[in-house]
Amino acid sequence: MHAALVTDFDHNPRYADVDEPQPVRPHEEVLDVLAAALHPRVRSQADGSHYTSTDALPLVPGVDGVGRRADGSLVYFVVGDTQLGTLAEKTIVDLRRSVPLPADADPLLLAAAMNPAMSSWVALTKRVSFRPGQSVLVLGATGAAGQLAIQVARRLGAGDVVAAGRDRAKLARAGSFGASATVDLSASPDEVAADLAAKAADVDVVLDYLWGEPAQNAVMPLLLARADRSRALDWIQIGSSAGAEIALPSAALRQANLRFLGSGQGSVSTAGIVSVLPDLVAEVMRGGLTVEVDERPLSEVEAAWSATGAARVVFVP
Ligand SMILES: NC(=O)c1ccc[n+]([C@@H]2O[C@H](COP(=O)([O-])OP(=O)(O)OC[C@H]3O[C@@H](n4cnc5c(N)ncnc54)[C@H](OP(=O)(O)O)[C@@H]3O)[C@@H](O)[C@H]2O)c1
Repeated sequence: MHAALVTDFDHNPRYADVDEPQPVRPHEEVLDVLAAALHPRVRSQADGSHYTSTDALPLVPGVDGVGRRADGSLVYFVVGDTQLGTLAEKTIVDLRRSVPLPADADPLLLAAAMNPAMSSWVALTKRVSFRPGQSVLVLGATGAAGQLAIQVARRLGAGDVVAAGRDRAKLARAGSFGASATVDLSASPDEVAADLAAKAADVDVVLDYLWGEPAQNAVMPLLLARADRSRALDWIQIGSSAGAEIALPSAALRQANLRFLGSGQGSVSTAGIVSVLPDLVAEVMRGGLTVEVDERPLSEVEAAWSATGAARVVFVP
């Protein structure tokens, strides 16, 4: 069968012939992959930089997808840490990590939306006790996960949702996803600090997709402008699009009720992540969560790997 194959972490995966998989363990089944997306998680898997990487090669990247079972039914599925991912004509799925789909499901939309949407859904339902009416700052609201985080927060009952991002054109769309205010992170540092203080100082939760300099520069302006610094502020670290590290003044943790925590593989169990999938599938199927899709044949994987557009690349084997 054909698959995207990584043989060297310094090169894009190439379209190659690999052996067809055989199920080994109980609950496993071989599926035909209908659509599987190129998420940042997949890029970091393929270049060996993800924190779960074992450096073992060769590998077929891909963490999720929509597939057809031998009986013809459709499922959305996630795979564990494996050398055989989902960017292939067939893959092995543990059916306990899959959700049945109706026959009229849109494989491309589900493949594109589920991983980025899961990031905020899991964070708000598994990592904090988020209550309807609470307010949220999405730091990094212009990527797929950030745009979906606005929609997810609203769906889970958020009051105000403030969207912060550096791409003005994409930020202009935040209102259509449900944001009540925006902060332009491409402005000067002083302007960004003042804007964050004015619009987001009293949020209950930060969904942080950026880390790095934008997160570092946001902490103190937000804390110092808070009406009641003893009121809890949960800062959930989800992505690191702007950098892997920050410098944090110790006073930040003393002078406000600031709690840093993360959400991802490890801080949430596999069972915890899988448990949210049916609700998320239903929400995407209902049309409540949207993301732009860039459909590509898997045969073009090597060139498509470098795509930089706003839409999520989804490969069709
Ligand atoms: N923990 C989890 O469960 C989980 C799940 C899914 C995703 N993630 C992580 O979340 C992050 C975002 O994922 P995604 O799917 O949304 O990726 P994406 O669609 O590629 O979006 C990344 C966004 O980050 C923005 N960005 C990069 N550097 C920036 C900076 N210095 N200041 C402001 N914005 C900046 C980019 O803005 P421009 O358009 O201006 O370049 C882009 O809009 C990734 O790190 C991903 O690995 C985590």
